Amino acid sequence: MAVIIDGKKLAEKIYAEVALETAKLPRRPCLAAVLVGDDPASHIYVRNKEGDCKKCGIESRRYDLPADTPQERLLALIDELNHDDSVDGILVQLPLPKQIDENAVIQAISPDKDVDAFHPLNVGKMVTGEPVFWPCTPAGIMEMFREYGISLDGKNCVVVGRSNIVGKPMGLLLLRANATVTYCHSHTASLAALTRQADILVVAAGRPGLITGDMIKPGAVVIDVAMNRNPDTGKLTGDVVFDEAEKIASFITPVPGGVGPMTRAMLMKNILHSV
Ligand code: GUN
Repeated sequence: MAVIIDGKKLAEKIYAEVALETAKLPRRPCLAAVLVGDDPASHIYVRNKEGDCKKCGIESRRYDLPADTPQERLLALIDELNHDDSVDGILVQLPLPKQIDENAVIQAISPDKDVDAFHPLNVGKMVTGEPVFWPCTPAGIMEMFREYGISLDGKNCVVVGRSNIVGKPMGLLLLRANATVTYCHSHTASLAALTRQADILVVAAGRPGLITGDMIKPGAVVIDVAMNRNPDTGKLTGDVVFDEAEKIASFITPVPGGVGPMTRAMLMKNILHSV
C-alpha cells in the first residue's frame, strides 16, 4: 500500500515557518486580493486565502468588484496597487468575467508583486532558471517531494494536463530537478502507454476517474492535482481512482488533503518573499 502524502500537515508546518519569518519583519507583509463577480468557488478560495494570511501574520486587503466591472476599471485598480508601497503582493482571483481579458490583467500586475507567478516575465524567468516566484501548485508539489525524500534526478516524470497554472510550470520545475519530462493532454495518443512509464505521475486534467490502477507503474509516485466537485454529492474527487492507485503506487496524494493545502501554503511563502 502506498504512503499517503499528508499535504494538510505539511502545509501547517509551512504556515508556522512563514509566521516565524513575518514576525521578524519591521512591518507585516500585505496581500491585495482582488475578486471580480460572484463565482461561489472563487469567493471560498479568496476567503480561505484571507484566513491563511491571518495565520501567517500577513495583512490581507480584499477588493470586491461587481461582475460587470469594465476591464479599464480593474486595470486602474491594479495600477493603483502596483504603486502602493504598502502592498507587497497582488492576487487577482481567476477566472474573470467574460468582458475581461485575463492575459491583459495578468500582464498589468507588477512582476515583483505577482505572488501567483503568472506574469510572462516570471514565467520566462522560470524557464531560464532565474530566481523567481514559483506558481503555487507546482511549487507545493516540489515541496512534497522534498519532504518525503522523493528523488527526481533522472526519473521519468509524466505530467497529464498542460494548463498555464499547473501542467506547464510543473514540467519546467521537474526538468529543473533533472527529471525526464513527458507532457500528456487531451490530444495525446495512447495515454495509458505513457503513464505506465512514469516513475512520477502528476495528474491535473480535471477529469474524474481518468487514471485507473492499470495505468500506473508499480511503485510510482502519484500526485493528483485535480479537485472535481461531484454535482450530486458535493464531494471533492481527483482524477485518479484512489482505491486502485493506492494499491500500486509507492506514494500518493489524497483529494482533498493533498495538493490543495500545499497550493495555499506556497502562496503564503510567495507573499513573504514579495516583501
Ligand atoms: N483560480 C484558480 N486557481 C487560482 C490561483 O492559483 N490563483 C488565482 N489568482 N486564481 C486562481
